[in-house]
Amino acid sequence: MGNQINPADVPKRTLYTGEQIPAIGMGTFGSDRFGAAEVSAAVSGAIRVGYRLFDCAAVYGNENLIGQVFADAFGEGVVKREELFITSKVWNDQHAPGNPTKSVKKTLADLRIEHIDITFLHWPFRNYHAPGCDGDARNPDSHPFSAEEFLETWSEFESLVDQGFTRHIGMSSMTIPKLEAVLPKIRIKPAIIEMELHPCFQQQELYDYIRARDIQVIGFCPIGSPTRPDRDKTPEDHVDIAEPVVAGIAKKHGVHPAVICLKWAVQRGQIPIPFSVYENEYYANLLNVIVDPLTDEEMAQLKTVDANDRLIKGQVFLWEHADSWKDLWDLDGTITK
Ligand SMILES: NC(=O)c1ccc[n+]([C@@H]2O[C@H](COP(=O)([O-])OP(=O)(O)OC[C@H]3O[C@@H](n4cnc5c(N)ncnc54)[C@H](OP(=O)(O)O)[C@@H]3O)[C@@H](O)[C@H]2O)c1
Repeated sequence: MGNQINPADVPKRTLYTGEQIPAIGMGTFGSDRFGAAEVSAAVSGAIRVGYRLFDCAAVYGNENLIGQVFADAFGEGVVKREELFITSKVWNDQHAPGNPTKSVKKTLADLRIEHIDITFLHWPFRNYHAPGCDGDARNPDSHPFSAEEFLETWSEFESLVDQGFTRHIGMSSMTIPKLEAVLPKIRIKPAIIEMELHPCFQQQELYDYIRARDIQVIGFCPIGSPTRPDRDKTPEDHVDIAEPVVAGIAKKHGVHPAVICLKWAVQRGQIPIPFSVYENEYYANLLNVIVDPLTDEEMAQLKTVDANDRLIKGQVFLWEHADSWKDLWDLDGTITK
C-alpha cells in the first residue's frame, strides 16, 4: 500500500495530564452527504494511512460501524487500542442526571472499546432539535444557557472519569462568559475544548483564553466545511478555500487550498479534525502538515483573512422569543441566565 505516513512523524500536542495526542485528527460527521458505511470505511482507510486521532459523536449515528472498524483494526494487528486517541460526545438531549452515563455506556458498546479518551459535552445547553428540522424551527423546551444545569451535567462527567469510562472530559462551542461562569466551580478541568476554527473564523480572544489555562484546542470545520448542507449556509458566509490569500498561498505550494487551512491550523497550535471520505484527500491532509511548512510571512498573511465568520451558528437551538443566533454566543457581552 502506497499512501502511508509514520504516525511518529505527525506533530503532537501535550494535554495537562501529560498525555500526548496527534496535532491533527479526522472528523467523522457525514452530515446529509455520507452514510455510516462510507464514513466508517474512511476511518478504516485513515487508520491504515496513519491517522491516530478520530473525532466521533453519538449524534453522528455511525459509532456502531466505526466500532466494527476499530475492532477489525485491533484484531488484524494494524494498530493497538492504546495508539488511538478516540473522542466522543454527549448530545444535547442527554444532559439530565443519569443520561450522560447512559449515553457514554452506549458509545462504549458501539465503539467496542473499554474507555473513551475524551468525552465532550457536545453543546453547552440542553436545547434539542429534531434531526433535519427547519433552520428556523424553535423547540418550546429550549431555553437560554444555565450555568446551574451545565454544572449539574459536568459533575456527572467528572464521575465518568472517576469510574474509568473516559480518561478526559471536554467542552465544545463555549464562549468566554460561559467559561467564566463554570471553570471556577468544577473539580476536573476540560483537557480539550472544541471550537469552530478556520482562516475566516480565528476566534483569537477565545483561543488565547483557553490556551492560557493549559487547555488544548480542537478546531472543527477546519476547512470551513465547504460542502455543508445549504440550510447551514447564509449569503454572508465566506468560503475559506476560495479566499484569494488562501488560494494564492496554495498555488505557490502546489496544493489544494484545503491543505493550506490545515497547515495554518497546526502551525498556529490548534488540532484540526478535517473530514473527508476520499483517500487522496485524507492522505494529503495528513501528509501536508508534516512537509513544506508555511513561512512566517504566509502565516501573517493568513491572519488577515479572519472575517469573524461563524458558520455553525446553532440557530436550531434557539428558544422561543430569542432575537437571533447571536444570543447563543453571548455576543452582547452578557450571559443570559
Ligand atoms: N464539536 C462540534 O460541535 C462540531 C461541529 C462541527 C464539526 N465537528 C467535527 O469537525 C469535523 C470537520 O468538520 P466538517 O466536516 O464540517 O468540515 P471540514 O473538515 O472543514 O470540511 C470537510 C470538507 O472539506 C473537503 N475536503 C477535505 N479535505 C480536502 C482536500 N484535501 N482537498 C479538497 N477538499 C477537501 C471535503 O469536501 P468533499 O467531501 O466535497 O471532498 C469535506 O467534505 C466533523 O467531521 C466533526 O467531526 C464538530
